[in-house]
Amino acid sequence: MSKKKSILITGGAGFIGSHVVRRFVKQYPDYHIYNLDALTYAGNLENLRDIEASPNYTFVKGDITNSDFLEKLFSEQRFEGVVHLAAESHVDRSITDPLAFVKTNVIGTVNLLNAFRDLWREDMWDKRFYHISTDEVYGSLGQDGLFTEETAYDPNSPYSASKASSDHFVRAYGETYGLPYIISNCSNNYGPHHFPEKLIPLFINNIINLKPLPVYGDGNYTRDWLYVIDHAVAIDLLFHKGRIGETYNIGGFNEWKNIDLVRLLCAKMDHKLSRATGTSESLITYVKDRPGHDLRYAIDASKINKELGWKPSVTFEEGLEKTIDWYLSNSDWLQHVTSGSYQEYYKNHYGS
Ligand code: NAD
Ligand code: DAU
Repeated sequence: MSKKKSILITGGAGFIGSHVVRRFVKQYPDYHIYNLDALTYAGNLENLRDIEASPNYTFVKGDITNSDFLEKLFSEQRFEGVVHLAAESHVDRSITDPLAFVKTNVIGTVNLLNAFRDLWREDMWDKRFYHISTDEVYGSLGQDGLFTEETAYDPNSPYSASKASSDHFVRAYGETYGLPYIISNCSNNYGPHHFPEKLIPLFINNIINLKPLPVYGDGNYTRDWLYVIDHAVAIDLLFHKGRIGETYNIGGFNEWKNIDLVRLLCAKMDHKLSRATGTSESLITYVKDRPGHDLRYAIDASKINKELGWKPSVTFEEGLEKTIDWYLSNSDWLQHVTSGSYQEYYKNHYGS
């Protein structure tokens, strides 16, 4: 029997990573999937309960800022492919603690690049390092236009600056060491297992608990929303069929002003919770704006569409319905991540 291909997915206990791990474990029985995650506040193995016993899956607790640990892991497992999602991902947290973002997003990425390069050296051509990035590296759009793969980088938050930096390092390793990379820059994701610090899951949780809905500034900021499973499908396609040394934009073709999205969510939640129309909307509270708040993101995803035929499979209406239903039927998950009890469990179970 031939040996399974060893594939590393970093950040697989997080929101997007868990959907990517699930897809790879189920779609590719010939791969052995290693999920490397530090289990920060955003990492939660409950996201992967359904596949954790699969014979082609192994969880490894570890920190990508630890280069010795990575070099050892790479030399033991000889990963032929890397899908790198581990990151500090929340813009607001980056404003209070920028260095944490430099450490994981920049230094952590360079550590991974080094471990990959040191393992394969002259034998890299058929291997693959896939770096998952964000549309926020392009900065902010005005009222018109779309981000393309040619848009100049212009990051405005410590988060987006750290992601932009990591993208540059990946490209530089391609140019300098011949490292076979792919980068994708995606718009805002939403869906099951999204940590309730980001707009949609935070507001769903607050509506359930009849707590205020803190809309930043005047709410007239625009984001392009994509259902997370459609992102996981795009990642699968690019990992297998994307061209080496290329960047691909991924987006939902689905722009919403925050306030319009929040109003739609409120209406749907009133209906689902059998509450009087307007109950959720009355919770909307305008609060101080996010510093450096980007006005508008919108992605031109025609390159991945033309080259690989990818497009979102669910409409926003369908995706939002699925998302709300998931949160309403997974109150235990919400309760665990908001109470922090699952972190206590990790401390006891893993000893750190
Ligand atoms: P997340 O915050 O939900 O998950 C991040 C995961 O990385 C967590 O499981 C966490 O424990 C792990 N992690 C953090 N620091 C680590 C470290 N030092 N070592 C090992 N693991 C560590 O993030 P997400 O929203 O799932 O985003 C995943 C990736 O996709 C990120 O690179 C992010 O920049 C990118 N991205 C996110 C979005 C979005 O809308 N969420 C959109 C485009 C791109
Ligand atoms: O565009 C991709 C990016 O999308 C990813 O790279 C990031 O990891 C991800 O967090 C997300 O960044 P945003 O800053 O766009 O997402 P967030 O959910 O934090 O905010 C969405 C919009 O809602 C933004 O305009 C800020 C606003 N907002 C957010 C929160 C948390 C509010 O008005 N109130 C809030 O409480």
